[in-house]
Amino acid sequence: MTIETLGVVGAGTMGNGIAQIAAVSGLKVVLVDVTDAALPKGVTAMTASLERLVAKDKLDATTRDAALRIETSTDYQRLAVADLVVEAATENLDLKIRILKQIESVVRPDAIIASNTSSISITALGATLADPSRFIGMHFFNPVPLLPLVEIIRGLQTSAATAKIVRELTVRLDKSPIGVKNSPGFVVNRILVPMINEAFFLLAEGVATAEEIDEEMRLGAYHPIGPLALANLIGLDVLLSVTDVFLRDFGDSIKPHRNASEP
Ligand SMILES: NC(=O)c1ccc[n+]([C@@H]2O[C@H](COP(=O)([O-])OP(=O)(O)OC[C@H]3O[C@@H](n4cnc5c(N)ncnc54)[C@H](O)[C@@H]3O)[C@@H](O)[C@H]2O)c1
Repeated sequence: MTIETLGVVGAGTMGNGIAQIAAVSGLKVVLVDVTDAALPKGVTAMTASLERLVAKDKLDATTRDAALRIETSTDYQRLAVADLVVEAATENLDLKIRILKQIESVVRPDAIIASNTSSISITALGATLADPSRFIGMHFFNPVPLLPLVEIIRGLQTSAATAKIVRELTVRLDKSPIGVKNSPGFVVNRILVPMINEAFFLLAEGVATAEEIDEEMRLGAYHPIGPLALANLIGLDVLLSVTDVFLRDFGDSIKPHRNASEP
């Protein structure tokens, strides 16, 4: 199966980025969110991102205009036409289970369902579906139009055919797929999030200012962006959810920093 129509659920930071790169690659895109307000907000972010690419001569105006013709809706039924649906809604296990079941109830029986979860077990999410063989992790990075990596995570029951189709789609989206085993936070976040969490503790303990912590990691570890600036880019809610998954799945080897005034 070739993916021609992509459904995206969640029009936030990641969802509108995924919708954007798919539309730029020539796919038909249906973007669904639960609130009316989230959809224009997502399209505005997408428009601004496309304009920046045009201004930098990285995209032509015709492709920009074509990309902006994505369909947006609050009605899950609109996903019935999708060959593949990427779930990119809020990082919460119960919510994702509800959304994935809702997606499965409207898509064709051969359509693939992927989750962009940052940390939740793909096997556990897949186990809640009638057909887990068509479910997979497709983990994009923020900002989606700029970062090349997509982690492809097979759950225990994901079929080889599903993984192959998703890998091919990733290449078509001009991204670099890397297959990783299902494990909390997969690879990048397992390394990145504990580092950011440690920066929160350093800030709360008054070891250095936020600016100094970021500058130290740029100058001393050669990171392009400091951990606290990166935390703001990712979103503190997303980071806390990921750290809570680590706390639950790895025991107390990582303790989430919840309040900067209470180290
Ligand atoms: N922010 C990052 O840097 C980043 C990177 C990689 C992966 N992720 C993952 O991507 C997912 C989305 O993160 P985000 O940063 O885009 O979050 P976000 O808060 O920007 O967007 C989430 C969107 O989901 C929508 N939503 C909530 N419930 C819904 C429902 N029932 N149906 C449809 N839409 C619903 C919200 O209205 C919102 O627009 C999370 O699983 C997150 O862990 C985030």
